[in-house]
Amino acid sequence: MEIMKVIVFEILPMVGKNIADLLKSIPLVDLIEHDVNNTEEAIELILSHHPDVVILGNDFPGIDGYYFTKMIRKEAAPTQVIMIAEMVSAESVRQAMRAGACDFISYKTLTVEELSLALENAAQLVAEEKEIRVSAKEQKEPVAQLQAKTRTKKPTKIISLYSPKGGSGVSTITTNLAWSLSSNGLKVLIVDGDFLFGDIGVLLNQQSNHSISDLVRFEGNLDEDVIKEVINHGDVDLLAAPSNVEKSVEINGPIFEKIVKELSQLDYDFLLINSASHLSDSTIVALEMADTLILVGTQEISSLRANGLFLDLTRTLSISRDNLMLVINRFDKGSILTPGKFNEYLKIAVSHTIPQDYGTVLLANNLGVPFVKDHKGLPITLAIESLADMLITEKSQKKASGVSQVIKSVASIFKTKKTK
Ligand SMILES: Nc1ncnc2c1ncn2[C@@H]1O[C@H](COP(=O)(O)OP(=O)(O)O)[C@@H](O)[C@H]1O
Ligand SMILES: [Mg+2]
Repeated sequence: MEIMKVIVFEILPMVGKNIADLLKSIPLVDLIEHDVNNTEEAIELILSHHPDVVILGNDFPGIDGYYFTKMIRKEAAPTQVIMIAEMVSAESVRQAMRAGACDFISYKTLTVEELSLALENAAQLVAEEKEIRVSAKEQKEPVAQLQAKTRTKKPTKIISLYSPKGGSGVSTITTNLAWSLSSNGLKVLIVDGDFLFGDIGVLLNQQSNHSISDLVRFEGNLDEDVIKEVINHGDVDLLAAPSNVEKSVEINGPIFEKIVKELSQLDYDFLLINSASHLSDSTIVALEMADTLILVGTQEISSLRANGLFLDLTRTLSISRDNLMLVINRFDKGSILTPGKFNEYLKIAVSHTIPQDYGTVLLANNLGVPFVKDHKGLPITLAIESLADMLITEKSQKKASGVSQVIKSVASIFKTKKTK
């Protein structure tokens, strides 16, 4: 750890003194002492000293602690915020993370070890953010060039892939479809929207030091250069899922929506969102923003039922499903659950089928090489290629007005259910 500048803002003098004493016993901490007790002066102090870390009492006067955290992150990043309070609940931690804090600790039982650990983690984040900013700056294109590009930019088509039942093949189809689109000369970005268990990095054998959670920390000033730095560049570009569970809870619907909007401004032809099966608010955003929603089912009664329930949510609200494509994966011609049965039960035509081929898929997924790349001519490859063709030739670039409203209403049902 290098020398670390730290400022503490805490309204209770005893607590402030205790924390200062703990900090003084940690090597390499440069504690900036002050007698500021209002937010305007606090911001001034931060902007003039550029501390690495602000330790912020939740009750600091004049402003809500989460709001103040957001402000500090927006105005003074890479400065990190560690929030402190007497009691820390799971909900307050979530709110703090969403506001951009890197930690929330209770001062009641705070030890030097715990504080050192929190500072080390914050120092790491400061270093990562500095690195992202520096390389983003280095890659900055001249303004005129950027403006010309924006003027000529074709609209990015957002394809969300979703199944209400996990294990249906959403990740497999996402990676292979992306590869197929990209081998047609199109620029494709996969957003791994399965924040908890996203596996696209593994399926594409792309290791990235960055993930979508890095963008959450830049929420206040998400610019194109920062986003490009966080994206992993390969045959198919990838905005990877967070590397751990703690980071994934920082992402919520509104933040994800903002990120997807920014991504759709970049120079991609297709943005493919690999959605989790759990209908969280971020998943709803992914479905809501889709120009085409690929709903994946398999020939199992549980999958049929789950898709029926999902479609019911939309049907109840009698909304058009013009932008929805129903795809049966692991398709077996001999199964009694024929596309006709799907049509009969779900009242929606099957747009496409992808054959079952355990050996090919297993090998490709384990090697991290999409099967469409290495197994040309196989029925499963041809099926993905023809799905890609359908998306490419689909003339209507219309925004998903129907689905959008459906999902908005689903979102409201979901929210009411949650608050009950
Ligand atoms: N067409 C297919 N034929 C055979 N196995 C498949 C096929 N598609 C996916 N699988 C297998 O199904 C499992 C789940 O696939 P995955 O893409 O991870 O689903 P999801 O992302 O929906 O959870 C994996 O073991 C994968 O190898
Ligand atoms: Mg998956």
